[in-house]
Amino acid sequence: MNNQTDLSSESHALREAWMRHEDGFLKDYLVSSVEDPRIHFPSILSRGLLVDRLQPEKYRELIWSEYRFGISMSYVLSVLQRRPAPRTRALLLEALESGMDSFQSIPIPAYFIETWRLQRSSPDPVEHYIDQALRCTESLGATELDPRVLTGFQNRWREVFKQWDMAPISVMEAACGSANDYRYMDAFGMSAIMNYHGFDICPKNISNALAQFPKARFEVGNVFEIQAETDSVDYFFVHDLFEHLSIQGMHQGLREVCRVTRGMACLCFFNMADRADHLVEPKDGYHWNRLSLARVLEFIEPFCQDVQVIHTGRFLQNAFECGDYHNPGSYAVVLNFESK
Ligand SMILES: C[S@@+](CC[C@H](N)C(=O)[O-])C[C@H]1O[C@@H](n2cnc3c(N)ncnc32)[C@H](O)[C@@H]1O
Repeated sequence: MNNQTDLSSESHALREAWMRHEDGFLKDYLVSSVEDPRIHFPSILSRGLLVDRLQPEKYRELIWSEYRFGISMSYVLSVLQRRPAPRTRALLLEALESGMDSFQSIPIPAYFIETWRLQRSSPDPVEHYIDQALRCTESLGATELDPRVLTGFQNRWREVFKQWDMAPISVMEAACGSANDYRYMDAFGMSAIMNYHGFDICPKNISNALAQFPKARFEVGNVFEIQAETDSVDYFFVHDLFEHLSIQGMHQGLREVCRVTRGMACLCFFNMADRADHLVEPKDGYHWNRLSLARVLEFIEPFCQDVQVIHTGRFLQNAFECGDYHNPGSYAVVLNFESK
């Protein structure tokens, strides 16, 4: 069997692996709970890197405030999931007000206490999102966050992009799902700063995406053979795809990302580790691999100018002393192609 035959049967299997799900499931399963792109670190990072690339440094403070928002809301969610009772929010707020560092035997992390204190002293009510999330008395599900709190940063970014006066850049997303990240990029006002092109191997995802955004560019496509000219994309991003490919398929996908990107690529992984080799785990016709960071870097480095690695847990630990990020296998590998 030659490489091409391998990848065409793999492509078929990947398509089938996602097509067996219902449309409604595909539309929502990756944008709920801690994976809601408004609080999920890799999503905030991908948006932040795009903004920072266009306006270096200018919005760093806002981006970092959004990281803090993401970890704080993820903590609230984790508490609600552990104690799904109507009084949980009020009990957590009481604990904060009494200066306690745990409640109901759940530790309250220092970054969360610090964030709450900082907010209390801020004159800007938009900053008071912990109080708002915990005071909410409306009929929310026991493990649901107040939608008004979730849109806090959306409104702040919309204001930024309203005043934006730069020409849009080309942005491409592989494995875009049902506009999982794009739906919030659009809600945040980012459509104004980019010419977006998303593709996914699963036609149900693409019809879900087009049903939400009929005018946006969503296409059925395969990372093994990206439909774009060489060096045509300013900013490429992809979340949670490469673990699902064979190693040969991942190499082909990485080669393609490097071929089409002329600016920067942000590759987010959900199951990577500091280990010598990839752990290949076939699953239901596709893969659920644990990838070796070293092996991915070794493969990718010859294609680009420089590479930056962000291990989500360690980044959040250093930045906010946040030690409870839920996924130790979460990494971002950021590629710069500038001198191409
Ligand atoms: C775990 S989901 C991630 C979806 C989205 N990026 C997110 O993070 O919410 C993996 C996605 O990869 C898509 N996919 C799988 N193989 C692909 C390929 N060869 N080319 C493009 N998309 C692919 C699937 O259809 C699915 O939507």
